[in-house]
Amino acid sequence: MAGFNVNELPQRAKKIASEIGKKMPVKPCIGLILGSGWGGIAAALKSAVSIPYSELPEMPACGVAGHAGNFVFGSAENKQVAVVQGRFHLYEGHSEASAVLPVRVLYELGVRTVILTNAAGGINPNYSVGDLMILNDHINFTCRNPLIGLKPTAEFPDRFVDMTAVYDRTVQNIIREECGKLNIPAHFGTYLQVLGPSYETPAEIRAFRALGADAVGMSTVIEAIYARYLNMKVAGVSNITNMGAGLVAGGLAHADVLRESHRREPLLARLMLQIIARTE
Ligand code: HPA
Repeated sequence: MAGFNVNELPQRAKKIASEIGKKMPVKPCIGLILGSGWGGIAAALKSAVSIPYSELPEMPACGVAGHAGNFVFGSAENKQVAVVQGRFHLYEGHSEASAVLPVRVLYELGVRTVILTNAAGGINPNYSVGDLMILNDHINFTCRNPLIGLKPTAEFPDRFVDMTAVYDRTVQNIIREECGKLNIPAHFGTYLQVLGPSYETPAEIRAFRALGADAVGMSTVIEAIYARYLNMKVAGVSNITNMGAGLVAGGLAHADVLRESHRREPLLARLMLQIIARTE
């Protein structure tokens, strides 16, 4: 597994944040981590400046089709926003430490509210492709945890993080209301993270439904755990790009998932601007 020790995260992230600071003065208050289909917001920011990961020390290489590797800084609704464009997925062989490095960089830049976005397969039979799911809880089905091996620090002495209310209720309601204004069907639901990269079998989708999951994807939960450890305010939204395996006729193809996710990019960018306007 490529990566570094979780205890190196603060130091690495501080170096990256300081390098970003040398390139441009940034003081973001909101951070966005963009999944497939959510990229439109980066282009919608005012005075946006993009810094490729490759120009920053300590950043792992990022390389999945459809996932650029950049930090983008800009403003929206008079708020400074930091955007993470390009995740380090566990299915690429990245460690949990790499997967949460962008979250820690956001933290070191001063971000205290993070909105995690993704593309996901719908499991709840009431969902349709094109709906959004606002995360109100999650199931960590990766059997990995970014806090394993973490030594208590003066800043963060507690690794036994309370996960009773991971996703901020106020932000959840804001997202729901803004979806309503744009006529985007939205549900509150439970997201289950798998490791991937293979998609699920129909039996796994049935099993996840029995466990209480409403949607399944390959990111987000690991980041949410780490963000809560940092005591950040967390929200999450899934773009339902397909129904889970076996729920509809035919198989799943990554290209179809990507195509569906990009179809609504402009609409999701508008939604995100409206969410930013109301989120502290
Ligand atoms: N399963 C897992 N991850 C996904 C899916 C899916 O069906 N769709 C988009 N990401």
